[in-house]
Amino acid sequence: MTESHIHPHPQWSSRLAFILASTGAAVGLGNIWKFPYIMGENGGGAFVMVYLICLAVVATPIMISEIMLGRRSRLNPIQGMGALARESGVSSHWSLLGWMGSITGFMILSYYAVIMGWGMAYLVQASAGNFEHASASSVQVMFSDLMADPERLLLWHTLAMIITVFVVARGVNKGLETATRWMMPMLAGLLILLVGYNISSPGFGPAMNFMFDPDFSKLTPTAIVVALGHAFFTLSIGMGTIMAYGSYMPTEASVSRAAILIVLSDTAIALLAGMVIFPIVFSHGLDPGQGPGLIFQTLPIALGNMAWGHLIAIVFFVLVVIAAWTSSISMIEPAVSYLTDRFEIGRIKASILIGTGAWLLGVLSVLSFNVLKNDTLFGKNFFGLMDFLTSNIMLPLGGMLIAIFAAWQMRRAYSREELALGPVTWRLWWLLTAIVAPLGVIVVLLNGLGFNIIDRVVQMFT
Ligand code: PHE
Repeated sequence: MTESHIHPHPQWSSRLAFILASTGAAVGLGNIWKFPYIMGENGGGAFVMVYLICLAVVATPIMISEIMLGRRSRLNPIQGMGALARESGVSSHWSLLGWMGSITGFMILSYYAVIMGWGMAYLVQASAGNFEHASASSVQVMFSDLMADPERLLLWHTLAMIITVFVVARGVNKGLETATRWMMPMLAGLLILLVGYNISSPGFGPAMNFMFDPDFSKLTPTAIVVALGHAFFTLSIGMGTIMAYGSYMPTEASVSRAAILIVLSDTAIALLAGMVIFPIVFSHGLDPGQGPGLIFQTLPIALGNMAWGHLIAIVFFVLVVIAAWTSSISMIEPAVSYLTDRFEIGRIKASILIGTGAWLLGVLSVLSFNVLKNDTLFGKNFFGLMDFLTSNIMLPLGGMLIAIFAAWQMRRAYSREELALGPVTWRLWWLLTAIVAPLGVIVVLLNGLGFNIIDRVVQMFT
């Protein structure tokens, strides 16, 4: 690459380190907090089905493309896109894609730290034994008390941002790589344990029907946009995180194998989380569509009434916070690595700068749960707007542009060389990336804007 480096570009210590860090970035609040609640809001089974289809045919090929672009450029996403464009002899305006991604990550972190703060607040509640013998109404009060308290929320938001910046400032971190190694299996293990606890509950059957028995009449155009957006959000793709992580990846590792492994573990954790939450919802006659508070108003009921519940609750929320943490650090990696690659700025300064900005923006999300609760635009408060704009519009758009670049702009010889796939699998990747993924994103977004394309196509065939 022709771009000059001021600081040397780092590299993961091994292939495993890349997979662990990327899985850490992918598995987070998106799986445990967001997936159950948006599934609940969008009617269950049919939503899950659309989400799984989006993962398989749109998100996975884009994930492979994004890792590939990062590894080939060995630069931050902004300069990296410029350098890749030059290498293939196309417009260097492609670096704008890196800019859009870095801004998206910054915006996501602003509200992600707020929710991570909720997780930390619940860790404290769990440690104090406050879930003991919890009932549906007592946990609802606990949650609404927290929401109504801007100062407490602000404190946790600030702490979440500080620990995020702390790790980003330290750089590609060994401690976190190791933490991810035991955390992911442990999180999966605990979720399985909680599913086991729920199997005999009266809500288990209804929950399974809710999640896996699709009722397509419940599927709205917005639900499809949300499912697609979440496929990007949960894998951390479409904004340069995975590109930045890929740029630290050793050359000998297989891009596609790593991508598929990450997609599978991420999906398993999300489905398990749903299988923990919904039995509780249906056993206690709660509303599955109650929104962002869902896990905080259901889990404590189960945790507070099971044997060893006190201990399990603590371990569970520790894992939630760590999962959120390994994701939050990845969101500003594109912006921070741009600043350090491009300017005479150290990692510490760059991380503090970006973290402070995201913290400030996040204050508005904190307030949107109380003081600014009634200030809405398109029926959404500030937090809801930020989430909708980033997850459901900016990430799919970014992902689509990544696909277009990887398939149509980059020379095919380069993608063949980077992916090192057999001719048939390379073709399959190319077809999905060149045609299926971009078309999927366009159709879903236009449909969400009210063009009803999907309905019309369905009518054509029925
Ligand atoms: N994938 C993360 C999660 O599921 C969120 C995330 C989005 C992380 C975008 C990085 C970039 O929680």
